[in-house]
Amino acid sequence: MSSNLVKIGICGLGTVGSGTFNVLNRNAQSINARAQAELEVIHIGARRDNPDCDIGEIRVSRDIFDVARDPEVQILVELIGGTSVAKELVEEALRNGKHVVTANKALVAEFGNELFALAEQNNVVIRYEAAVAGGIPIIKALREGLAGNRIEWLAGIINGTGNFILSEMREKGRDFADVLTEAQELGYAEADPTFDVEGIDAAHKLVILASLAFGMPLQFSSVYTEGITRLTTQDVEYAEELGYRIKHLGVAKHSADGVELRVHPTLIPEGRLLANVNGVKNAVLVEGDAVGPTLYYGAGAGAEPTASAIVADIVDLARELSAGQSCRVPALGVATADLKALPVLPMEQVVTPWYLRIIAEDKPGVLSSIASIFSDHGISMEALIQKPPAEGETRVPLIVLTSRASQGSMDVAVATIEALESISGEVARIRVEALDG
Ligand code: HSE
Repeated sequence: MSSNLVKIGICGLGTVGSGTFNVLNRNAQSINARAQAELEVIHIGARRDNPDCDIGEIRVSRDIFDVARDPEVQILVELIGGTSVAKELVEEALRNGKHVVTANKALVAEFGNELFALAEQNNVVIRYEAAVAGGIPIIKALREGLAGNRIEWLAGIINGTGNFILSEMREKGRDFADVLTEAQELGYAEADPTFDVEGIDAAHKLVILASLAFGMPLQFSSVYTEGITRLTTQDVEYAEELGYRIKHLGVAKHSADGVELRVHPTLIPEGRLLANVNGVKNAVLVEGDAVGPTLYYGAGAGAEPTASAIVADIVDLARELSAGQSCRVPALGVATADLKALPVLPMEQVVTPWYLRIIAEDKPGVLSSIASIFSDHGISMEALIQKPPAEGETRVPLIVLTSRASQGSMDVAVATIEALESISGEVARIRVEALDG
């Protein structure tokens, strides 16, 4: 093995920080062989110690900026989360000529454009494999493994907490809040779990994947974001009756009119591989023009799966340091100056089939008035289930699967249906994705 020494600083010693430290220690021999260098953690920045890892005599600073200023540190691993202090820390590290490894998707999604440019100016790089889909090497797959392809679209289950909640609800009929508490205890959920259940975490990850796939700057504010909090167990059951599973998906599609960037609950045909991704697992389906569909699956959250991705980035950087390269692989695969802004398609123009749940009076003529409203808007009904009324109830749920329709047409059709006297409340709507192109 080479005698190159690569010195690492870790900022943040929470669940992921201690997991990273432990993986680096446990697998030191094989990691060093792969890195062609001896990796040594020489400085830890953390407000408090973590009993889950034994850091021995390693220098500890309570001020994390001491790590970014330590002239010995070559790679700074940012694991503090958030976007204010973390951004300052990463900027300081880059200005001081350090490579940065981060698991911070919010930081990359919201400030990646400026941070990547700053890294280039300082001839260092930011690696962020752990920011998307936990332990799955999806960043490397998109940036390197699929570099020969024009990526047409990708769709992924990219929030482990949300998938864990949906799986437990479907399989065990468990209560939403109860499963969320368990996800927090297991270390899957974000510090603010509304990021998980409202789709913000998935939107952070989607925008990163889309930029890599389509060579565009990060456009987090353009992502349509809808979470899982309004899903009901009834919808999960009705979807199953129709042969579908409900999953929370991030979808990025490249078309002549623009790029679709959207995160929302989705009905997927039950035979699709993505429909069968359960628990905290994530999976990303990527369609390239040369390779066709490829699927990446694995643990999307948790200390050691995330550590696996972080250590892979450290090894990558250690190799570059050992090789003395002056031409670095850019963070998004192409230099920031070569990224091309693409128009993001307004949601009104996004076309999908739809699942609708309509609460209607159980009397003659209601169904035909609904059908004629759909027909007026060029939407056809592909499947229909009418449930019997509950005892003493005169209203029934009507479950409809429609043909492909733009959100704009569906908005108008649904508003017209909701205005009918025989209809109660709002019509529940979920998009459907066949995932076949
Ligand atoms: N809260 C995230 C999730 C952690 O549940 O997927 C991994 O990014």
